[in-house]
Amino acid sequence: MTKPYSQKNFPTTQLEDADGEGHNSSLNPTMGEIIGKRFSRRGFLQGSLAVSAIAATVGPAALMSADKARAAGGSAFSFTEVEAGVDATHHVAEGYDADILLRWGDAIFADSPQFDPTKQTAAAQERQFGYNNDYVGFIPLGGSSEHGLLVVNHEYTNPHLMFPGLVEIVDGKIQQGKLSKDQVDVEMAAHGGTIVEIRKVDGKWQVVPDGKHNRRITANTEMVLTGPVAGHDRVKTAADVSGTKVIGTLNNCAGGVTPWGTYIMAEENFHGYFSGELPAGHAEAANYKRYGVPDNGYDWADYYDRFDLSKEPNEPNRFGWIIEVDVMDPTSTPKKRTALGRNKHEGAESIVAANGKVVFYLGDDERFDYVYKFVTDGTFNPDDRAANMDLLDAGTLYVARFDEEGTMQWLPLVHGEGPLTAENGFASQADVLIETRRAGDLLGATKMDRPEDVQPNGVNGKVYVMLTNNSKRKADQVDAANPRAANAFGHIIEIAEDGGDFSATSGKWEVLLKCGDPSIAEVGATFSTETTKNGWFGMPDNCAIDAAGRLWVSTDGNSNKATGRTDGLWAVDTEGDAGATSKLFFRVPVGAEMCGPLFTPDDETAFVAVQHPGDGGEDWDGHGRPSYYEDLSTRWPDFKDDMPVRPAVVAITKIGGGKIAV
Ligand code: FEO
Ligand code: CA
Ligand code: CA
Repeated sequence: MTKPYSQKNFPTTQLEDADGEGHNSSLNPTMGEIIGKRFSRRGFLQGSLAVSAIAATVGPAALMSADKARAAGGSAFSFTEVEAGVDATHHVAEGYDADILLRWGDAIFADSPQFDPTKQTAAAQERQFGYNNDYVGFIPLGGSSEHGLLVVNHEYTNPHLMFPGLVEIVDGKIQQGKLSKDQVDVEMAAHGGTIVEIRKVDGKWQVVPDGKHNRRITANTEMVLTGPVAGHDRVKTAADVSGTKVIGTLNNCAGGVTPWGTYIMAEENFHGYFSGELPAGHAEAANYKRYGVPDNGYDWADYYDRFDLSKEPNEPNRFGWIIEVDVMDPTSTPKKRTALGRNKHEGAESIVAANGKVVFYLGDDERFDYVYKFVTDGTFNPDDRAANMDLLDAGTLYVARFDEEGTMQWLPLVHGEGPLTAENGFASQADVLIETRRAGDLLGATKMDRPEDVQPNGVNGKVYVMLTNNSKRKADQVDAANPRAANAFGHIIEIAEDGGDFSATSGKWEVLLKCGDPSIAEVGATFSTETTKNGWFGMPDNCAIDAAGRLWVSTDGNSNKATGRTDGLWAVDTEGDAGATSKLFFRVPVGAEMCGPLFTPDDETAFVAVQHPGDGGEDWDGHGRPSYYEDLSTRWPDFKDDMPVRPAVVAITKIGGGKIAV
């Protein structure tokens, strides 16, 4: 998301404050500090020389990627690029259709009430598609690429775009009034996820409103905690003395679909929903500080005690988890799988390793936080779906340390090993998981520039890490894996696990791409020379690997001000002479972020999620002032005077059919 929560943090176009301030004050040195010490002993490191000295020590792997960036030709993608820019609507490459499939408020069930933004209710919203679609997954039915379940996360809400009469403009800035209980209830029903049957008929995707698996999950859906934290004292509340029953899910960003066809929802910026103060001297104070709790981003605590720390001090420990949903049973209770750790989870994409164990890659999206992976103890059984249903309750969680010479270690977060002992406040594995970030601090994990999607590629055996940006990284905090100070445009790391084994505990890495405008030398971007003025991007966030093993990157934070272009979906070559060539395939309307990218198994459809369209308009000449319900920078996708802007999932197909970008 551009901002973790929008209600009290106007103006809305604060690129630099995206996704938190950074809460990692651990003392484990960054690689820059280690290198810095070495050089200062030799008396080399002085003032601005520091950065070039560090750059000179970047390992051969990283230098190799620079060579790769200079090479060109032989792109794996065939399409005519979209022109980058900013306007009120979306654009897709010539020869493709981009059809609106599901908008905020659309019917999910045969009996869903018709959307009326002026009279929205929680009861209606619970039967309609939610707000701010983020992750999009597709679970084929009957093995088909033309019929299946679409699973979509609804990350957060933008009340100033959703509700009439909420905003006043004071000194040219949005002042948002307090939400009523009814509005908060709408917000809670607009969060969570949607599971909906879809089918392609005559080349066009349609929702099946009476699909028997159709379901809405919200901030009020009952869930169960499973794994090592279930039943622990630190997750017990007045309403749940068992410490196992949680009401709802918050801030579902990206996610995943498991090899056995369950839907994974990742809880990201959960801190924003909590208000109030912990009782003096409360044992969770340091834990909550590390996660930025409370952040007072929403008005929910005004109406629901569980979001007020003074009343329910343990409630925040029940959020920040990875959730697994059995989509085949619409009455199933979603499971918060605590073995995968607690942090601001961007997503959880998985792959079966050669030994049959299932590996989940996890990014903790905050400045200076970490990349993780989880390896199941058990192995995947492709012939017995039921046998896989609790694989996520037992396994090993690892955190990444990227070393300067281009090697890396996955460090196990296992109670009793290394510093993860009672002496350091970890009495059990439950403590290690509740305080995953502190465990990573003690293990010396590498502080990254906002890790978002981490995507395994089953075709070439590599893993791709999207790092959005980090304006707060100082020159003396630069390291080989985070090579730019004040990293405004982010970068992408490519990991090759040792032996090509996704479950390995060590690997090699290189910087695939440093993002930003390559025509400005100071930016230090490393797109290939084949990349056009439309093809470069900043702020990589979500990504997809298509069936051909090609990388597609979607972005969060491009804008008129930052890059002179909206967010979008870019095709990025990773192999051969064309490596680091990027082309723009689709772009979003003003103010939106590009989420979701997902290809059907036949590569004939790309689903993308247009999130928070119309959120912002100050920097765009076409509007030039704040955007809110009564004065929107765009009314995408309906463009009707009585309809506000609506986040929506878009289905992209080739006109006349066929595989995309072939
Ligand atoms: Fe919800 Fe990290 O984007
Ligand atoms: Ca984001
Ligand atoms: Ca994201």
